Amino acid sequence: MDRQKIKTDLSNYFNAEPQADFRSFYSKAFDIVSDLYNSRNDISAMTGWINLPHDTSLYEKIKGFADKVKEEERYEHLVVIGIGGSSLGSQALIESINSPLWNRLSRAKRKGFLTVDFIDNLDPSVIRNVYNRLKFEKTLFLVVSKTGGTLETIVPILVAREWFGENFYRQCIFVTSEQKGLLFELSKKYSAPLYPIPENVGGRYSIFSSVGLLPAALCGLDIGEIREGLLYAEKLCQEKDIKINTAVSVALCAYFSYVAGKNIFVLMPYSSCLRKFVEWFVQLWAESIGKAKKGSTPAIAIGATDQHSQLQMFSEGPDDKLIGFLKINKHKRDLTICDYSADHASFAQYADYKVGQILNIELEATRKALAESGKPNFLITLPELNEYYLAQTMYIFEVATAVCGFLLGINPFDQPGVDLTKRYTKEALVR
Ligand code: PA5
Repeated sequence: MDRQKIKTDLSNYFNAEPQADFRSFYSKAFDIVSDLYNSRNDISAMTGWINLPHDTSLYEKIKGFADKVKEEERYEHLVVIGIGGSSLGSQALIESINSPLWNRLSRAKRKGFLTVDFIDNLDPSVIRNVYNRLKFEKTLFLVVSKTGGTLETIVPILVAREWFGENFYRQCIFVTSEQKGLLFELSKKYSAPLYPIPENVGGRYSIFSSVGLLPAALCGLDIGEIREGLLYAEKLCQEKDIKINTAVSVALCAYFSYVAGKNIFVLMPYSSCLRKFVEWFVQLWAESIGKAKKGSTPAIAIGATDQHSQLQMFSEGPDDKLIGFLKINKHKRDLTICDYSADHASFAQYADYKVGQILNIELEATRKALAESGKPNFLITLPELNEYYLAQTMYIFEVATAVCGFLLGINPFDQPGVDLTKRYTKEALVR
């Protein structure tokens, strides 16, 4: 298939940050990329996520299982219990491709694929609502935790055990470590299937393991296309031409902006479907980059919605932000506006435009206005929002995050700063 390419436009970035001398950092950034790829089989380097698209048997196994679930028609609902890197990636994949309104579609419109609810917090009203609403016999539970002992994952398990009885475990699939941990032990005890998370893949880099692929396939996403996108992104990320290598471009923009005092990195897609994608990015960036008193704070904005909320701050507020725009060139199932000038003369100007086209015109207008205000921004354009381009984009952001981390001299694969909270919570729970 002849595919179009994801494009990156840095012109507004260089206009606002003319002193950013990318060339001086090219070789350093490319060395980091080489080190990443060379360390992919080193367990201690935690770069096993780079190998995931090459695990063909994993893709076959997940596709086979999802096809079987669909054919058997035993299940209608999926509940994913997990938090952070064990949930946000699958939320991002499913919402971006299926839209945030997936659960409201009829079974026929969902082509027999499962509805999905995510339990990723200890909010009793949400847990109660999800468990109350679902038909237990028709529900498959996917319990996801690399360590297997995360509080926010264990508690909804215990509530489900009380709510549905011991049979709950018989409708569970565990995605966890293959060797140890509470979920591993439960899967053994109840003979429940276990899909392993490789030891050298950290939580927030685990989206393209079973963690993200299994829920995605059960909700009808084409994981073969995801894999194609990842394999192509792998080539792009090792490309020495900066015009082609979006991952290195984004890493350098973020690095130079941070050095120039831009402490906030806003990612602003012009699509409501990409809200969860940005939430996934925020976690990836914050847990990877925020260390040793360094790192820009990631922030979410959605176009055009936030033009009527945060844009004032972006354009006339402090010079402390880098803004990354994401554009979808051709929106899926776009809507054409008819000529209703007879109703009101002003409607004539909208006639024959598509809604997605107007959204993209707004994006360009915002970029232009911000550039005129001297605010650095870059644009990444996806030809379409499908599995192939979404997977590519997510992989590119994973590599960009890792490269920026190493440019800043920190380890993007650990998260020591969250351990103290865990310890204090544990201590407070002891009676
Ligand atoms: O990126 C990370 O490592 C974290 O965000 C984890 O994904 C999160 O804390 C959940 O951990 P676990 O998968 O062990 O339950």
